[in-house]
Amino acid sequence: MRKPNVFKKLGTWRGGIRSSIFVLSIFALIISLGTLSKFNSLGSFHVTDTLCNYVNPESQSRPDSHVRRTLETVIQKIQQELDKFRDSEPEPSSSKHVLKYSSFLADILGHIESVQTSLSQNEETHELNSGAKDIHPLLKPKQQSDEPADYFLIEEIRKYVKIKPNRLGKQNFMGANGTFTSIGHACFAMKKELEEYMDYDIGEICNDDWRLAQKLMVHGCDPLPRRRCFSRAPKLYSKPFPIHESMWKLPDNRNVRWSNYRCKNFTCLASKKTQKGFFKCADCFNLQDHEKPRWIKPAYLDTNSNVTADFLIPEVLNIKPGEIRIGLDFSVGTGTFAARMREFNVTIVSATINLGAPFNEMIALRGLVPLYLTINQRLPFFDNTLDLIHTTRFLDGWIDFVLLDFVLYDWDRALRPGGFLWVDSFFCLKEDLSDYLEALRMLRYKKHKWVVVPKLDKDDKEVFFSALLEKPGRPFR
Ligand SMILES: *[C@@H]1O[C@H](CO)[C@@H](O)[C@H](O)[C@H]1NC(C)=O
Ligand SMILES: *[C@@H]1O[C@H](CO)[C@@H](O)[C@H](O)[C@H]1NC(C)=O
Ligand SMILES: *[C@@H]1O[C@H](CO)[C@@H](O)[C@H](O)[C@H]1NC(C)=O
Ligand SMILES: *[C@@H]1O[C@H](CO)[C@@H](O)[C@H](O)[C@H]1NC(C)=O
Repeated sequence: MRKPNVFKKLGTWRGGIRSSIFVLSIFALIISLGTLSKFNSLGSFHVTDTLCNYVNPESQSRPDSHVRRTLETVIQKIQQELDKFRDSEPEPSSSKHVLKYSSFLADILGHIESVQTSLSQNEETHELNSGAKDIHPLLKPKQQSDEPADYFLIEEIRKYVKIKPNRLGKQNFMGANGTFTSIGHACFAMKKELEEYMDYDIGEICNDDWRLAQKLMVHGCDPLPRRRCFSRAPKLYSKPFPIHESMWKLPDNRNVRWSNYRCKNFTCLASKKTQKGFFKCADCFNLQDHEKPRWIKPAYLDTNSNVTADFLIPEVLNIKPGEIRIGLDFSVGTGTFAARMREFNVTIVSATINLGAPFNEMIALRGLVPLYLTINQRLPFFDNTLDLIHTTRFLDGWIDFVLLDFVLYDWDRALRPGGFLWVDSFFCLKEDLSDYLEALRMLRYKKHKWVVVPKLDKDDKEVFFSALLEKPGRPFR
């Protein structure tokens, strides 16, 4: 980024330059670029760097000290030149040029001094490394891992990942001596995006960039770092509808920021028109016609066999009356499952991301709890705590088998013994079905319900599958 600037500057004043300054400047430029690129290559291959130093600690120190001496000389010369400019009384005709030269020299001086600083830092670590040269690198004691702070350039990221010791030197309520804020390793692969995300003015309003944030999360930079800026809110937030109205009514359009959605109001989301920007659950905002009957009346009935993949809430809850009280709905949707369960005195949190529509906003405006969660994360529940996990339109034929395994084991972890796993209308290609069923059988849950129904809209190539499974007690030590 710096190089073009400097060259542009060179290009602007060809005429009337005192040749000595020009030669000196070019010399300084070459030194600075040369050293800069050398340092950069060392910095970005941190591991190789330390290994090389270990293998041959002598070979690098001599050129370094030579470079350092040269840098000192160059800096001295430029400073002398600048001082001369300051002291001299320029003739009015040449004062414009003099001003340009001196600001150019000051610029070059800044570059060189920054190189000098990094070089001396580099040498310090170098000395540390060569001090431990008798130990094999792999046996060296592991350094306190502040490494992300070396990798990222944005100051706000470096601040975020630095381990923060507790004040007063005491353990905190979590029994730790400090706070170890984390960013996932995938953040490193998305350096550009993460730096864009963390590039803001502290205390100001954040950019309107939740989509960038969601992109980072979906691609594994999850959990995202916190930020010290204020998130954007809808311009005119009116209070939500009272709880007895909010469940089955489209919310006030003013309570959502629409700028990053294709639809600009809830009527558009609820309409039958296509092109709404999301595909799963296209009718989810149509509360009256589409959502209201769900889990109360079967929606899809195979006419040949007279079986449905839609279990009804009352029949599920009646298997264990009063026992199912809390749970998770991991689905794409607007929270209707949680809304219905609420009527049965069951508390459900709805995990979803905003795939092309304001799903989280909608769930919250209905008076339900949205959990903004990707599939990349371990569930934020302790082991053996939930009575129910329900999932629909989420785990489908796209999912990798190994990933499905990890997800199912994690759900099993969060479910309590005797809790239900309700796989609702999972669909996949016919030929994949047995592999997916195998993944579920692996759990060795008790089967309360287990149905496979042909799905007729895709040339009869797909099937629906639903199951209601119960986690067994595992009375082992
Ligand atoms: C926390 O600090 C205390 C006292 O300084 C120390 O004894 C303990 O080993 C530290 N624990 C950890 C996990 O660093
Ligand atoms: C909702 O948005 C659509 C386009 O997205 C627009 O045609 C329609 O007039 C809007 N309706 C209301 C009530 O604002
Ligand atoms: C289909 O099932 C319903 C209720 O489950 C029943 O009333 C109806 O008679 C069945 N129809 C056929 C053709 O089996
Ligand atoms: C839910 O709880 C309320 C009050 O605790 C009770 O009146 C109502 O009958 C319960 N509903 C169901 C479906 O159990």
